[in-house]
Amino acid sequence: MSLNVELLESSFSQIKEQRTDFTTCFYNNLFVDYPEVKPLFAQTQMEEQPKKLFKSLVLIVESLRQPDVLTNALKGLGSRHIDYGVLPEHYLVVGNTILKALAICLEDAWTLEVEQAWSEAYSVVMKLMLEGAKEAEARVL
Ligand code: HEM
Repeated sequence: MSLNVELLESSFSQIKEQRTDFTTCFYNNLFVDYPEVKPLFAQTQMEEQPKKLFKSLVLIVESLRQPDVLTNALKGLGSRHIDYGVLPEHYLVVGNTILKALAICLEDAWTLEVEQAWSEAYSVVMKLMLEGAKEAEARVL
């Protein structure tokens, strides 16, 4: 499966124009729809976290044409998420919430094709982050 890079880039350029709305929408929905993940963020500086999340999404979209860069960045990010108490099942709730926030922000531009492109991209991101997490755990054991 190859990702629809053009569609991911063009739809994300629209999100970049409303980054604060996007991240506010993401965290609001995450905590309302999945209150069980709230404790993971108990010590987190919630002023900074949305900016960090957005920066990493920018990096991901900018690296779609450089698989090595993407793989390294995501494996590293995934291994750090073990320290934050993140479990594999949490990736599904974050994926649902990213897609929901994209849908809300993109409005009419959220077509079936765009939805499919992001859903496939998130699966790849999740897979690489979980691989990084698994490798980091294996190094500790
Ligand atoms: C696409 C998937 C994800 C991306 C791009 C992402 C991005 C980030 C980034 C950039 C940070 C800042 C720290 C660092 O760079 O290591 C971070 C921290 C964090 N993320 Fe994620 N994350 C993702 C998935 C998740 C999931 C599934 C959860 C679980 C609900 C989660 C919970 C957290 C928590 C608790 C922190 C720590 C904040 C702190 O206290 O410093 N993230 N994430």
